[in-house]
Amino acid sequence: MHDETTAIHGGYQGDSTRAVAVPIYQTVAHDFIDADHAAALFDLELPGFHYNRINNPTNDVLERRMAALEGGRAALAVASGAAAVSYSVLTVASPGSNLVIAPQLYGATFTYFVHVLPTYGIEPRLAVDDRAESLARLIDDRTCAVFCESVGNPAGNVVDLEAVARVAHRNGVPLIVDNTVATPFMLKPISHGADVVVHSLTKFVGGHGTTLGGVLVDSGEFPWSAHPDRFPQFNQPEPAFHDVVFARDFPERAFAVRARSVMLRNTGATLAPMNAFLLLQGLESLAARLERHERNARAVARFLDADPRVAWVSFAGFSDHPYYELAQRYLKGRVPSIVTFGVAGGYEAGLSLFNSLELFKRLVNLGDAKSLVAHPASTTHRQLRPAELAAAGILPETIRLSIGLEHPDDLCADLDQALARVTET
Ligand SMILES: Cc1ncc(COP(=O)(O)O)c(C=O)c1O
Repeated sequence: MHDETTAIHGGYQGDSTRAVAVPIYQTVAHDFIDADHAAALFDLELPGFHYNRINNPTNDVLERRMAALEGGRAALAVASGAAAVSYSVLTVASPGSNLVIAPQLYGATFTYFVHVLPTYGIEPRLAVDDRAESLARLIDDRTCAVFCESVGNPAGNVVDLEAVARVAHRNGVPLIVDNTVATPFMLKPISHGADVVVHSLTKFVGGHGTTLGGVLVDSGEFPWSAHPDRFPQFNQPEPAFHDVVFARDFPERAFAVRARSVMLRNTGATLAPMNAFLLLQGLESLAARLERHERNARAVARFLDADPRVAWVSFAGFSDHPYYELAQRYLKGRVPSIVTFGVAGGYEAGLSLFNSLELFKRLVNLGDAKSLVAHPASTTHRQLRPAELAAAGILPETIRLSIGLEHPDDLCADLDQALARVTET
């Protein structure tokens, strides 16, 4: 099936009631037929559901649909994108290991990596930039993964995933890619060598700013059993789960099974079935929405670029964008509806512009039907020091727009009045 069709029908053949919409299985547990049935479920010998911290039939449809869209073998839905990011790392890391990271990251991901991972004995290694050579220099025999955002939020960099996957795999290390901004409609990291894909489903997939959610997708391709020293948690009996040896017992989805049965089962960032349902509603119209998002973003970027009051505009759809070539190659000529720009005057000018917009909603989400504005230096990235901000691709005046589905003329009119107010002061 094509992606547009998978996003609507994937993972659901109807249930015994023939309900057309995916039912919301609002239950905590499922009744065992008998003790043997319970044992088989607990030992993962039988597919099925028993306790909904671990899995749920509504979430299962979302997982199958996202796995199909990303070209993976299995997926795990969780309560937020942040949970997906943290589980992706904790599933492969152990105390003493290090994580090699492309520096252009969403602010909370940066904070988690740099300030929280060390408290678990996991060393974050931030590369100077997102090039494969820069990441390769930091990999050693304790590296548990290379992590990057396919399209950085808010930097808008597009990572050369094939080059990065090559250096990771040459060293026996998996590549984890956050594909939130691109979505699988523009880019499928697994087809370029990624081993694990994570998403904040809160953004374009949900699409209406109503629901938090996240997902981890396992390509099923990483050879965990070839690296027993680097990944003992995949190759030795797992004490946290009946001495299962994940790489041996689940060779085609070892990552997803470990993430579910060790991380989710024991730490419980479970997605509520109602939220899975809402995210499935979003997924059904994602293809159509993305086209409008992109058309509007191109119109707004052109408007800003032509305006002499604007000092700079960064939009991956412009041929002078430093990542234009990579965007063309990886995003199939398409572009996410994120536009960043600045006016002269640094932090204060950025804040003033942020405060002057009227139609744009001032908040720190993206991918909503409503157009949104953020001033990363004072919000999402305010914990970062100036050098860290620069490495993340953010200037003090940077304004990030997430362009929604309104009429583009109304968005440009709002920007016009805000620019007039800022330049007057
Ligand atoms: C690229 C990216 N990854 C992860 C997250 C975290 O997602 P959530 O807010 O759903 O926890 C975000 C949130 O903005 C994001 O932009």
